[in-house]
Amino acid sequence: MKHNGVCALNDDMADVLESFKRADVLVLATPVYFYGICAQMKTFIDRTYPIWQHLGEKEVYYIISAGLGEDIIKRSLGDLNGFVEHLEKQEIKGRIYASNVMDAGEVTETSFMNAAYEMGRAV
Ligand SMILES: Cc1cc2nc3c(=O)[nH]c(=O)nc-3n(C[C@H](O)[C@H](O)[C@H](O)COP(=O)(O)O)c2cc1C
Repeated sequence: MKHNGVCALNDDMADVLESFKRADVLVLATPVYFYGICAQMKTFIDRTYPIWQHLGEKEVYYIISAGLGEDIIKRSLGDLNGFVEHLEKQEIKGRIYASNVMDAGEVTETSFMNAAYEMGRAV
């Protein structure tokens, strides 16, 4: 943040930040791990810190999966909402809460797949 939006860590995140800045649409997709978002998503959010005062305007979509019910997913929303609230202008245009999908592949048998397809088509 103190280096004109250039991260002090010199790695691939520089390219990710450039893509992020150009994007009109942001799809935040994460499983729930121990009542929160996954570590990779949290790391992505944290690493936008160099530009957090200029995150831009985005249309936002959430896709969140969990082994248990929708209440668990809602409990995990704090980190995503906290990040999205820092966008200069934002609208959450769609949410898919894929609850009760514990095992690998289980989600393919649910209506969440079609919901994701339709959400993508509407972007
Ligand atoms: C480390 C770990 C922690 C998890 N913690 C939760 C949890 O707190 N609540 C929940 O409902 N499901 C939990 N689950 C289940 C996952 O949310 C669920 O299986 C999800 O569909 C996994 O998505 P993935 O295949 O993209 O990892 C956990 C799974 C793992 C591997």
